[in-house]
Amino acid sequence: MRKVNMIYEGKAKKVYATDDPDLLIVSYKDDATAFNGLKRGTIIGKGVINNRMSNILMAKLEEAGVPTHFVSELNERDTLVKKVKIVPLEVIVRNISAGSFAKNYGVQEGIIFEEPTIEFSYKNDELGDPLINDYQAIALGIATRAEIETITKYAFTVNEILRALWASRGVTLVDFKLEFGKTSDGTIILADEISPDTCRLWDSETGKKLDKDRFRRDLGGVEEAYHEIMRRLFD
Ligand code: TMP
Repeated sequence: MRKVNMIYEGKAKKVYATDDPDLLIVSYKDDATAFNGLKRGTIIGKGVINNRMSNILMAKLEEAGVPTHFVSELNERDTLVKKVKIVPLEVIVRNISAGSFAKNYGVQEGIIFEEPTIEFSYKNDELGDPLINDYQAIALGIATRAEIETITKYAFTVNEILRALWASRGVTLVDFKLEFGKTSDGTIILADEISPDTCRLWDSETGKKLDKDRFRRDLGGVEEAYHEIMRRLFD
């Protein structure tokens, strides 16, 4: 399968049409942004790691019954995926307080929740991805009640699978963001990526952050953290 023309360039990936109208190629870049693009930088080798990691994790999720867009890895940066129309919701699942949750509710990071939480943001850069609830998403025509129920069920299933997988590698899955899409026949499948850009991953022993927070918060050792988390996945 070959790239025909670039149809979209995002902050971390480019998307190309292919000869097959139902398939796209995503190409992972080393570009990193944070705070809705206000902070910009490069994390050398990130694209290669995110491509591999996302594909490995999506293949495992698929095996466990969560449908995903993953078709096949073409090379170290490029992956063939099913074409979908992205549902403009960022679906965030949390097991432990961190990031915007800690800030919004005035609590410290690291509180282990009794049960995981889910929240949605409306994917809209101009509006700064505002939080939105299910009723508001339905009112705006972003998704139907049935679609939101499907998305919620898949998101919690993804959490259980990934939490166990990372735990077996000595890593705590703190929180993560998912995006879902709709195929031409209306089926909801998991899309976008699952990587250290989109998850918080802490070393279970030391609590060391092994994810994009090192870039967001200028903690240093960004490239090393991406390599370390990839190594853990292969342990
Ligand atoms: P938050 O605590 O900043 O809301 O982030 C929650 C999770 O979502 C965290 O694992 C990082 C991820 N995330 C993204 O993947 N993209 C984004 O644009 C944001 C804000 C967060």
